[in-house]
Amino acid sequence: MNISERLGIKFYKEQVEQFLIDKGKQTEEALHQYLGQLQCPGPGLIEAMEYSLFAGGKRLRPALVLGSAEIFEGDIPKVMPSACAIEMIHTYSLIHDDLPALDNDDFRRGKPTLHKVYGEAVALLAGDGLLTLAFELLASTGNADVVAEVARSAGVNGMVGGQYLDIRAEGQKITIETLQEIHRKKTGALICASLRCGALLSNASSEGLYAITEYGKHLGLAFQIVDDILNVTGDEKTLGKPVGSDKEHNKSTYPAILGLAQAQELALEQTHKAIRALDCLGEKAEIFRQLAIYMLSRNR
Ligand code: IPE
Ligand code: IPE
Ligand code: MG
Ligand code: MG
Repeated sequence: MNISERLGIKFYKEQVEQFLIDKGKQTEEALHQYLGQLQCPGPGLIEAMEYSLFAGGKRLRPALVLGSAEIFEGDIPKVMPSACAIEMIHTYSLIHDDLPALDNDDFRRGKPTLHKVYGEAVALLAGDGLLTLAFELLASTGNADVVAEVARSAGVNGMVGGQYLDIRAEGQKITIETLQEIHRKKTGALICASLRCGALLSNASSEGLYAITEYGKHLGLAFQIVDDILNVTGDEKTLGKPVGSDKEHNKSTYPAILGLAQAQELALEQTHKAIRALDCLGEKAEIFRQLAIYMLSRNR
């Protein structure tokens, strides 16, 4: 039985692909515009930021911001700065994640990692530059709740804290609860914040905000479980980043702790919960149901 049969939902892959292409294009235009406005302090730094930012990421997080705004009948130009800001924070987290001090990976988004090309010092600073530019953009929304939302999700109680726990768990025996906490923080938090920003900036009702938050929590978890699985079963060229590196670095992952089959079951379960969370939003949330299935069956 395939995934969509098990979830009881017909899957329209092309619809999701088109959605991601459209949102990705809009985001990249805006990203180019924001980067273009930077004053360069000397050659190399902005180029390094652009190297990673335009290397061909899936643009999932901005698509979540923009898609969420559409569900809540918001205004796309109003949410675009936050969509770009979150993609910048995500890209900075990947640049730093790949550094020798963290995961020490040589490939990302199908290209040599930033520190391999520009050196570690520039990679650190390019990450810092993206992070601070992101908060300048967030401030431009004029919505302090949105700035705080993203700060919390990216900081010590979110991505940064999750990354810290991830590094500390290397080579350790940890429980599935601890692993879930790591995944929720290092990946789930920013995914959830993307959806919430779109909703907050579109004046969603508290019921709507609750539904989209629950969707984000389950989608985020499923997304990182699939990331773990792809590090075992994926194809390096398609994935654009190394395969087998988690095992090499003694990472605590779902496949390592539970085995592949059970990890796949858990990803399916989280996807099911994500889809159910959208029940009260009706037909207008259909693209997010489809997106959840797509992310479960992705190969990159
Ligand atoms: C990779 O994220 C790192 C995780 C948080 C799992 P993505 O799979 O969204 O990476 P890109 O943006 O497409 O490169
Ligand atoms: C990425 O976690 C989470 C981040 C905050 C960057 P991983 O280290 O598992 O992701 P990949 O597999 O390198 O993209
Ligand atoms: Mg990592
Ligand atoms: Mg990594």
